[in-house]
Amino acid sequence: MMYDTLIRNALIIDGSNAPGYPADVAILNGRIERIGDLRDACATEEIDAAGRVLAPGFIDVHTHDDTVVIRQPQMLPKLSQGVTTVIVGNCGISASPVSLRGDPPDPMNLLGTAAAFVYPRFSDYRAAVEAANTTLNVAALVGHTALRSNHLDDLLRTATADEISAMREQLRESLEAGALGLSTGLAYANAFSASTDEVMQLTEELSAFGAVYTTHLRSEFEPVLEAMDEAFQIGRHAKSPVIISHLKCAGAGNWGRSPQLLASLENAAKTHPVGCDCYPYAASSSTLDLKQVTDAHRITITWSTPHPEASGRDLMDIAAEWGVPLLDAARRLQPAGAVYYGMDEADVRRILAHPLSMVGSDGLPEDPFPHPRLWGAFPRVLGHFSRDVGLFPLHTAVHKMTGLSAARFGLKERGEIRERHWADLVLFDPVTIRDVADFNDPQRAAEGIDGVWVNGVLSYSDGQANGRREGRFLARQGDLRDGFQ
Ligand code: ZN
Ligand code: CU
Repeated sequence: MMYDTLIRNALIIDGSNAPGYPADVAILNGRIERIGDLRDACATEEIDAAGRVLAPGFIDVHTHDDTVVIRQPQMLPKLSQGVTTVIVGNCGISASPVSLRGDPPDPMNLLGTAAAFVYPRFSDYRAAVEAANTTLNVAALVGHTALRSNHLDDLLRTATADEISAMREQLRESLEAGALGLSTGLAYANAFSASTDEVMQLTEELSAFGAVYTTHLRSEFEPVLEAMDEAFQIGRHAKSPVIISHLKCAGAGNWGRSPQLLASLENAAKTHPVGCDCYPYAASSSTLDLKQVTDAHRITITWSTPHPEASGRDLMDIAAEWGVPLLDAARRLQPAGAVYYGMDEADVRRILAHPLSMVGSDGLPEDPFPHPRLWGAFPRVLGHFSRDVGLFPLHTAVHKMTGLSAARFGLKERGEIRERHWADLVLFDPVTIRDVADFNDPQRAAEGIDGVWVNGVLSYSDGQANGRREGRFLARQGDLRDGFQ
């Protein structure tokens, strides 16, 4: 038997949350053909893993890579971390289906300028991803704010019955074309005025497709528990799974409440399929939001349209230089992006360690001075949090970014190292793996990632992308409720 690729002497951490075991892995025609003692087998390409870890390629369940996967299909920030699949369309913002009437409303501008929004139908977006030959696999949600921007002349109100039915039609068409589900970003001003009822009516489309509801909660500050209740209410009404995006306790007044949030999540999980994602940092990042401007913690500016020179600087210093209050400085900088150092480390760890949480980067690829999660989220969980801090065993860290994620989003035959599964794989050194990107120097590739295969094709090695691009568009498969048992 001649295989395409043989990876010998690996410690297989298979993504199922089971401890690792030594084995060889053979790849043929994009899939894992055999796992075991393959000393007598040969292949076109043979690699000696020398005892390093071979894991399923990481699945970034929370991204804003919608347009960058097409414009920069190499996807180095993610590929260099061992990511092989990205889920786009989170937080209510998606590249499709969108027909803009001007500039993209906040926070859709996180995905690019108006020129980036050229997909009036979900099927147009899907075709563009397929034509781009992206390095990574791409699956997509439809954003609620994107739908609102198509049909409402004023985003600061709830939708009318006619507007809701128009949005429902676009959502249904998108689900038919392979969308995973609907995302909301109810905290953002352009979605905040949407009533719970508006969202519930939209989510009525999900159940027939077995699709999922993901949500950037209406609040991550003091009313976070009420916001979680709203999300669960919507999910129950929709008879659809609920994934809470980047679960956190935001704002100094909210620190220490993660046990309450997790108790609420566990309680909901008893009767309904629910889960969450999170990123492994105590700072958040998004557009600069006047409601989040405070002197209680540090805020740095990552980009500003009127003041590009502010990128990477503290809001406090800018305000001092201009001799104006923080809020005035923020207003002058808008539209802008920011990093908010607004979480407590103990809360971050508790949420990250919880069995219902998956890892998602929430990285912002358009940002000239991005939060380091864009380049570092996955190695940080493996190196810093698992190995150095001892928050959980390595196989649990891997499970949170592979097997669990694939199950929740119905990514069939991915997320675990098993025979006949797609060969999305990452080879890494558990001793040296480390996120190098930090808040001062955020665009640096991780150390310790030795090889990344996407659909059986080695796409990254020796610290470099090799230009091979075998990613696919992953349309929704089956009923996502099945992934919550
Ligand atoms: Zn969000
Ligand atoms: Cu997000």
